[in-house]
Amino acid sequence: MKRLSNHGVGLAPARDLVTPVSSHNEWDPLEEVIVGIADGARFPPWHAAVEAVLPPAKADHIRAHAGQAFPADIVDGARRELDLFSALLEREGIKVRRPDPRDKQASFGGPGWTSTGLYEAMPRDVILVVGDELIECPMAWRSRYFEVLAYRPLLKEYFAAGARWSAAPRPELPDRLYDDGWRQAGGELPPRLAVSEFEPTFDAADFIRCGRDIFVQLSHVTNRMGVDWLRRHLGGAYRVHEVAFDDDRPMHIDASLMPLAPGKLLINPERVRIVPELFKAWEVRAAPPPPPRTQPLFLCSGWINMNVLMLDPQRVIVEAQDDPMAEALEAWGFEAIRCPFRHFHALGGSFHCATLDVRRAGGLESYF
Ligand code: ALA
Repeated sequence: MKRLSNHGVGLAPARDLVTPVSSHNEWDPLEEVIVGIADGARFPPWHAAVEAVLPPAKADHIRAHAGQAFPADIVDGARRELDLFSALLEREGIKVRRPDPRDKQASFGGPGWTSTGLYEAMPRDVILVVGDELIECPMAWRSRYFEVLAYRPLLKEYFAAGARWSAAPRPELPDRLYDDGWRQAGGELPPRLAVSEFEPTFDAADFIRCGRDIFVQLSHVTNRMGVDWLRRHLGGAYRVHEVAFDDDRPMHIDASLMPLAPGKLLINPERVRIVPELFKAWEVRAAPPPPPRTQPLFLCSGWINMNVLMLDPQRVIVEAQDDPMAEALEAWGFEAIRCPFRHFHALGGSFHCATLDVRRAGGLESYF
């Protein structure tokens, strides 16, 4: 645990002040983490920013099941995997926290729209941790409007213990936020996005943190106003770099670009044809192709294999059946720790998506 000493002259010997939230990058030794839950997970109700991220073959299925529960065997399997994953992390000495399940069937809305909920499986999307600050994101999917409430008991606890807690401007999510132009674009790059610049929107998972440098992709849920809001909010201590990949369905950067440790960058070889200039001095390796699978992947691509979680700069959590990834990372000098997660993948993410690293040892540094 990170401690701040009180160096005040003339004060009584101070008890150490504990920082409840402190996380600057994706690899420092993990001390406390929120792990999502699968209970009651539902397919997203249908609207533009959903369809834009789906390959046509999946879109039909998800449209047909919009707002319905995910298959029970997938939810049960994902719950078991999340519990195993949490137990594994606890055995490694990491404090694991879980959100409170909410009613996803209940209808809610804003001016001109209504929706039902999605899930509390992916804390990575909902809250951005930058240093000692927890930032609630202005998410573009209407089904996710109130998802952050599942984390509010934890946010209040961290706040009471001294963390900074903020939220981006609450979006309206009116019809005019969504731009149908991506349909006509026919796979052009960079893609025309499903969110306009009507108001700031972003998901935390479109950002990846490397100390003072934070990388972000514009996506079908993250617009430029959202990036500008975050850049100005963070101020001069951070550099927020916009990067773009060969991906006509962008949503969440963590299956495209994954910094594993200082100087080591894992990339998606289909999407990252030009490595962002800043990483030129880093060792860059391509993720191995995703292994074949029998279970469906409803909301993400097979490249979710590279959505790994670093416990520290050496140890990495890899899906239990993903031999190519485990072998590639071992050959690169990492210790791969295997954990079954194939049912969870069906919900649209892997270990990085399923977690929010609240506290990692180490401070704010520059790696470039
Ligand atoms: N949306 C990203 C992918 O499926 C995570 O690759």
